[in-house]
Amino acid sequence: AAECFESGLLTGKHVLVTAGPTREAIDPVRYITNHSSGKMGFAVARAAAEAGARVTLVSGPVQLATPERVDRINVTSAREMLLACESAMPCDILIATAAVADFRPELPAEHKLKKDPGSADGMLLQLVRNPDILASLAQRNDRPFSVGFAAETQHLLDYAAGKLRDKNLDLIVANDVSNSSIGFDSEENAITVIDRSHRQTHFAQTSKSKIANQLIGLIHQYLNKDEP
Ligand code: CTP
Ligand code: CA
Repeated sequence: AAECFESGLLTGKHVLVTAGPTREAIDPVRYITNHSSGKMGFAVARAAAEAGARVTLVSGPVQLATPERVDRINVTSAREMLLACESAMPCDILIATAAVADFRPELPAEHKLKKDPGSADGMLLQLVRNPDILASLAQRNDRPFSVGFAAETQHLLDYAAGKLRDKNLDLIVANDVSNSSIGFDSEENAITVIDRSHRQTHFAQTSKSKIANQLIGLIHQYLNKDEP
């Protein structure tokens, strides 16, 4: 419920939020990306700032206004997002909502690719893995309280719990994106938050703004005692 949200919960804390998609260049006019709108991440940044935190929002390309009292750093690619996050460290709380492209073209072409001469049938694009920003920050010595988002279309809680373990997180937010009313470009969301002892907290479908307030309230509870 929104009542658990009180201003001042995160006073004195530095919160780092990643948001939006990343964009990985194929050539100067083409790129690989995804449908992330950035809305959930911007709502989380706003909620953290309203709770009194100093907030750094590292955002991929999105069409959203910067929330009040939030320091925004714009980036394009996953590698730029990682560098911007590293520059923003240390932080007390990391909330990784960004839909980071898992792969990028190995070597973006210097000039616009031409279809001729080439194969009439098609073309192959060689991709390489991008760095995992969340996993990388969560394994540092100055590791923050680390919160990931798992957008899944199947096996939601199992896959989310696997990411919590593999990335060494404190909390993972499981997000069912097979349901289009709470999916990528939606105004609403519904989430299940899983902690390291497999305890689950569910927040029913409501505006992304309210979900963000609830999530910030829950993170505050975890920071102030071991269990909510
Ligand atoms: N994440 C990240 N850097 C990446 C990939 C993911 O920081 N290169 C973060 C996301 O911001 C999110 C969490 O990791 O908080 C889970 O992202 P997701 O794409 O669901 O998981 P992956 O580990 O990439 O696994 P897969 O896409 O194969 O399901
Ligand atoms: Ca991924």
